[in-house]
Amino acid sequence: MLKILAFTVPLLLTTNAFSDMQEAKEMFDEANCVQCHSVNKFKYRKDKISNFDKLHSMVTSCATASAAPWFDDEIKDVSLYLNKEYYKFKVEEK
Ligand code: HEC
Repeated sequence: MLKILAFTVPLLLTTNAFSDMQEAKEMFDEANCVQCHSVNKFKYRKDKISNFDKLHSMVTSCATASAAPWFDDEIKDVSLYLNKEYYKFKVEEK
């Protein structure tokens, strides 16, 4: 029974938004962003980054600087992930 649940629940939850977030989290974890950033720092610097566009462009330059091999839409996904976890800006769907 437990096995069946473990298998079906993730399948049921796999809407697009969910898997994008999951993937973004994994990309973020793998890109060693935390080498320079502690998770606290993302919270702490909230004053500097005042909207999602700024967050997005910051992630873009940091991804380039740290040579994360991400495509534009992946950078966007990671930005959305960081936003959801830490910044909580309102995001306009484009
Ligand atoms: C080589 C060190 C380094 C690495 C690696 C790095 N960053 Fe940064 N990051 C910085 C510096 C420096 C700043 C600028 C802080 C400032 O504005 O004073 C910054 C700023 C940011 C900000 C804005 C923080 C804020 O709230 O002010 C975000 C978001 C960010 N980085 C995301 C990332 C992500 C995602 C990665 C992984 C791809 C990453 N960074 C990897 C050095 C790094």
